[in-house]
Amino acid sequence: MAKGVFHVIVHATALLCCTVGICGETEELGTCAKDDGVDCGSQSLEVTPVITKLDGVEVGHVQDVILGGKTHQMTTLSMKPQVLEIKHFLTDEECDHMIRLAEKDGMFDSVTNTPTKSTNVKIMDMNRDTVLNLREFILTIENSFDIYLDEDDMLKMYSDLGMDTNSDTDISREELHSQDPKSVIDWLTEYVAKRPHKKSRMSRQAWLYPSKIRDKVLDEIQERVISLVGLPRILMDKNDEFQVVQYGPKGHYHAHWDSGSWTESYPCCHHLKTGSGQRCKSCRFMTVLLYLNEVEGGGATAFPIANNETFDEHSFRMSGKINLHRHCEDANLVVPAEKGKAIIWYNHHLDPTTGWVGELDSFTLHGGCGVTSGHKWIANKWILVSDDRDKDLDPNFRPNRT
Ligand code: OGA
Ligand code: FE2
Repeated sequence: MAKGVFHVIVHATALLCCTVGICGETEELGTCAKDDGVDCGSQSLEVTPVITKLDGVEVGHVQDVILGGKTHQMTTLSMKPQVLEIKHFLTDEECDHMIRLAEKDGMFDSVTNTPTKSTNVKIMDMNRDTVLNLREFILTIENSFDIYLDEDDMLKMYSDLGMDTNSDTDISREELHSQDPKSVIDWLTEYVAKRPHKKSRMSRQAWLYPSKIRDKVLDEIQERVISLVGLPRILMDKNDEFQVVQYGPKGHYHAHWDSGSWTESYPCCHHLKTGSGQRCKSCRFMTVLLYLNEVEGGGATAFPIANNETFDEHSFRMSGKINLHRHCEDANLVVPAEKGKAIIWYNHHLDPTTGWVGELDSFTLHGGCGVTSGHKWIANKWILVSDDRDKDLDPNFRPNRT
């Protein structure tokens, strides 16, 4: 291997609440920017809009929410992060209808990165002992290629490529340097082509835009979500899409965050014009996840580090618990998929000084566990909000629709 192709990087890596529905003071103040259905008194217009969260109160708390004239019960599953659940948020017919709309629109593969020759591989020699143990090599591959291997896969690679010359399952600097990186990349490419479930995500998806489709059922669902979350209507109207996802057998989505950290320098994708081609980050203040069918086996949503005291990304990655095929049951919070159920959480903290969206909440790390039998259908509704209140509330700022 050419020296310098692999280089050592040790990769280092934050409430305000209101009551359900109408949030008293904050709601009145928060939504007067545009046609949000809130009666804005003349004084309110001078008040800086704020963003709010529903209050789960405590784990196990059940509260009534009235949506479209119907009373639903919302249960608090967790407080760190706050995860709220509403069973029968959708009727069976609505679920089936969403699936049909997505199928009609056309499902396509959910995309993740694929290995390329030019990938800048970062060697994850975590303990800096100049030797890669199995876990460190697995991490190196996860980070650079978005391929999630287990130890057996790695041993097969060592043996196929004759990499581990002394068979000690550690790859020394010499063993690494005597290997042509292309052979490793070719091996990975072929291996994952036959085993797509080794990617961070294996699913198909479609985007449904209520404003474009003009479908009565979808419009009703959209209105129900808007009533539930109690956020400024402009935020909901500017980015109204639902992402419908279908997981087949072995389908999954390993642990991830739905949103980016404000410390990432890229702009928010929803602040870019469609097709700008610019690199951007997802800025999703809130996730509303709707389960659209009963899954025969597996397919729960897992929050591996919910309620942990602290979080250290590197030790988490080293533990392998990011892999929700293998470690679903090890997650601190596991929410089973049930047709018609909605779960919601906030990917960001609130910033008490600005009253707007604050830093990413690391404890929202979550993913979709492996589907062991049958199919799993969900719909994601992300409420896109950044730390830039003016842009988010600007009615003339058109959304990115890719
Ligand atoms: C997602 C996601 C979880 C699930 O689509 O972003 O986290 O249970 N899905 O499918
Ligand atoms: Fe997610």
